[in-house]
Amino acid sequence: MEYKVAPSLLAADFTRLGEQVHEIEEAGAPYLHLDVMDGAFVPSISFGMPVLASIKPAVKQVIDTHLMITEPIRYVEAFAEAGADVAIVDLDIEEAKKTAKELAEKTGRKVIAIQTDCTDKEQVDAMVKQVVEEFGGLDFCHNNAGICINAPAEEMTYEQWLKVMNINLNGIFLTDIAAGKYMLENGGGSIINTASMSAHIVNVPQPQCAYNASKAGVIQLTKSLAIEWAKRGVRVNSISPGYIGTELTLNSPTLIPLIEKWNEMAPMGRMGKPEELEAICVYLAGDASSFTTGSDIVVDGAFTCF
Ligand SMILES: NC(=O)c1ccc[n+]([C@@H]2O[C@H](COP(=O)([O-])OP(=O)(O)OC[C@H]3O[C@@H](n4cnc5c(N)ncnc54)[C@H](O)[C@@H]3O)[C@@H](O)[C@H]2O)c1
Repeated sequence: MEYKVAPSLLAADFTRLGEQVHEIEEAGAPYLHLDVMDGAFVPSISFGMPVLASIKPAVKQVIDTHLMITEPIRYVEAFAEAGADVAIVDLDIEEAKKTAKELAEKTGRKVIAIQTDCTDKEQVDAMVKQVVEEFGGLDFCHNNAGICINAPAEEMTYEQWLKVMNINLNGIFLTDIAAGKYMLENGGGSIINTASMSAHIVNVPQPQCAYNASKAGVIQLTKSLAIEWAKRGVRVNSISPGYIGTELTLNSPTLIPLIEKWNEMAPMGRMGKPEELEAICVYLAGDASSFTTGSDIVVDGAFTCF
């Protein structure tokens, strides 16, 4: 990786900073790392952490078990642009294929779609094997598949409970283990599991006990694997989004009537946008987060703060 480093700058001289950024861009450097020094040339603030640059050497292959985005192209595109080959994995193969095709055409990277039921161990193991065979390795895996069934606890059937647990928790366990095993034996890697703010609070007014319990389980699973694998090069983190406008929320007849209520309760008065989760996923994937493992990063517009 070739970096161009801007020479030391006086902290107050932001005009000069702009000029230097421009000069370096003109010189054709792919990434910038800028250090701001104070007048005595003592390093004070460092910014411009080259998050995308840090991915490039670390993440060449990505598994993303479903994209948590209504415009899926955006988040995965960041990885592809950073030089990653990407596997988009979903039960819904048509959507995954469409996204893969668009992304491959746009970025020139290898992007494949693989149909997998994340609750089926054989399918998950075969999926990881296929990714490794087609890409020559696996550096990063984002386990994002998840469902929610709303029903009062005393009316929820055992089948409903099991379905949520199977996809949201058992599916993550299976994929973490399949990807993690490969990474442990092949130089390490980074895994993100999608939890939820529902792991931290009980959402109201909708009753969703199975979802809440499954997501709390995701966080403890994440921390457990992070500890077990900490010295062996595999980092495992989770993200806990607040309400985000996706297929799950915007197109569900049972949830649409609740959106106004959620927005009234939300400190920012709105739901999050899928792209507001992108940078955190990109950060957790690469070497910029090399000391971050076992963390759960809440991105909820302060919903869980009160
Ligand atoms: N949207 C939100 O407000 C929100 C908030 C917090 C957390 N989350 C979590 O984010 C993740 C993505 O949610 P979303 O809003 O994009 O949901 P979504 O309904 O748009 O997508 C869920 C995806 O999971 C896939 N899936 C379902 N069962 C599967 C299985 N057995 N195997 C493989 N794939 C399967 C579906 O095909 C679908 O593409 C989920 O884990 C969800 O719990 C969502």
